[in-house]
Amino acid sequence: METLYWKNNTLYLLDQTKLPHTIEYVECNNYKETIDAIKTMVVRGAPAIGVTAAYAMALAELEGVDLKTAGDEIKLARPTAINLFWAVDKVLENVEQGKDAVSIAIEMQKEDIEINKKIGEYGNTIIEENDTILTHCNAGALACAGYGTALGVIRAANENNKNINVICDETRPVLQGARLSVFEMQQENIPVKLIVDGAAGHMMQKGEVDKVVIGADRVAKGGVANKIGSLMVALAAKRYDVPFYVAAPISTFDFENNIFDTTIEQRDSDEVLKINGKYISKEETIVENPAFDIVESDLITGIITEEGIKKAL
Ligand code: MRU
Repeated sequence: METLYWKNNTLYLLDQTKLPHTIEYVECNNYKETIDAIKTMVVRGAPAIGVTAAYAMALAELEGVDLKTAGDEIKLARPTAINLFWAVDKVLENVEQGKDAVSIAIEMQKEDIEINKKIGEYGNTIIEENDTILTHCNAGALACAGYGTALGVIRAANENNKNINVICDETRPVLQGARLSVFEMQQENIPVKLIVDGAAGHMMQKGEVDKVVIGADRVAKGGVANKIGSLMVALAAKRYDVPFYVAAPISTFDFENNIFDTTIEQRDSDEVLKINGKYISKEETIVENPAFDIVESDLITGIITEEGIKKAL
């Protein structure tokens, strides 16, 4: 099952809002439809957003739209994952050098999978036999062009017969852990257990977690931005001496800014107020719904990249 594919000048995105029960692809025929798909989280996860943004540029090129203008619009789709900005700029640079956006996007999609496999190889070196690995959100094949970053490390350990177990935080409010990470693990027959977000500390306190591996939306000086709840997991991991790793490609690194300058996306209150379309609190309840938080560098054991395992910036 592919996260996304390109066929006859159309981008097809696996609709992640409907997983795991319905497998359906959304067709994007123009760059504006692609922007909507990023905003509504039909496609999500930093590397997947990046590759999708590159295809949005390809569609804009086919539509005859000025690429700088389209790029500026695409960059507004979601603010936190730096891969979106990186991908748009990479397409613009390459187009200036005479390449076409479609072939650049295709190349970026292929490269993303190769990079994730390298992350997996390095990540496998820190996983021991019989480890139980806790992960938060979904940094899997679905969050990338394929294979995954954090779940790529888990896949690689499984391919190396390490007899691992995985614990997935459900990841409120959009439930990427429950809906997507658990689904990916089940498809690979990797033993997986689902917990509510609030149980992560308890599992670590009981000594049932050997390592935490998560993905990242941005790595910069001072720490890492990732899905809301990552900070609490990191704090518990520090308390109970559980190594805390981040798996991310270099395209997720922001070498120019401090991590605390990252714009944290605020999403619609209905994501928190409703479950399965039904209000769980009164409609008028005041909600704050930050989609990401920041894990400070001193809480991070290492960052697993395609170039090896690095110290946090
Ligand atoms: O809001 P999402 O689902 O796009 O958030 C995704 C995450 O936080 C992932 O952990 C991150 O993008 C890394 S994906 C390899």
